[in-house]
Amino acid sequence: MEVLIRDTADEVSLLGSQIVAQLLRRKPRCVLGLATGRTPLRLYGELIRLHQTEKLNFSQVVTFNLDEYVGLPPDHPQSYHHYMRENLFRHVNIPLESTHIPDGYSADLRHHCKEYEQAIINAGGIDLQLLGIGSNGHIGFNEPTGSLRSRTWIKILSEKTLRDNASNFSNPDEQPRHVVTMGIGTILEARHCVVLACGSQKSNAVKEMIEGPVSSMCPASALQLHPRVTVIVDTPAAARLDHPEHYRWIEQHKLDWQKYP
Ligand code: GLP
Repeated sequence: MEVLIRDTADEVSLLGSQIVAQLLRRKPRCVLGLATGRTPLRLYGELIRLHQTEKLNFSQVVTFNLDEYVGLPPDHPQSYHHYMRENLFRHVNIPLESTHIPDGYSADLRHHCKEYEQAIINAGGIDLQLLGIGSNGHIGFNEPTGSLRSRTWIKILSEKTLRDNASNFSNPDEQPRHVVTMGIGTILEARHCVVLACGSQKSNAVKEMIEGPVSSMCPASALQLHPRVTVIVDTPAAARLDHPEHYRWIEQHKLDWQKYP
């Protein structure tokens, strides 16, 4: 794992957006895996800015989102369909038919999960998967003790995740307990995974992901088995790491072609 520590959350987002933009410029017809939550908001804001000011081109990009709530209609303000439309898609030149988000409103969820997996394969696989991390170490909505080889499926949220995300729902009765999420096995097939984590509430999960054993108790730790993972964290999220100096040393000694812009 490549671990990049930055002083602030803004710097984390900026670097994340530069990595995505670099891919878009190098491979305009790329396949992006997208995440939701608070963490990638500033990264999306920066991509929008690059589109508006530097004509960063999304016209050939194909996207697949990690997850969606079960039972929320796509226009519900807490649905990830709504989130993606408001925070990225409607501000850039991506054709909506090139965007994919699991349909938590599907009448046949099990069939839909299989179709979603197939759609990723048909698109040629994901070039770059953006990820946040839950305070309990979940990625996508893959909660602790779930299979580390899981595929896109219907999952039940843990009480911890429900509590973490409760403030997003003004009416607690509307907060779904079920989700559709890419599995850990699906995520591990992306060619490059970029994980962003900010804030002290993520410090434990970040430590377990990077330095803990590979364990289903921290689903993000499965990323240790992936050949190309970039973790970008701010200082508060890095606070519990045992080897921050080692990660800084590695970054300082990168060869020119290994460096990000
Ligand atoms: C959410 C999402 C994840 C996200 C994580 C952290 O529930 N399903 O994809 O990475 O939890 O969210 P946040 O960035 O808001 O802390």
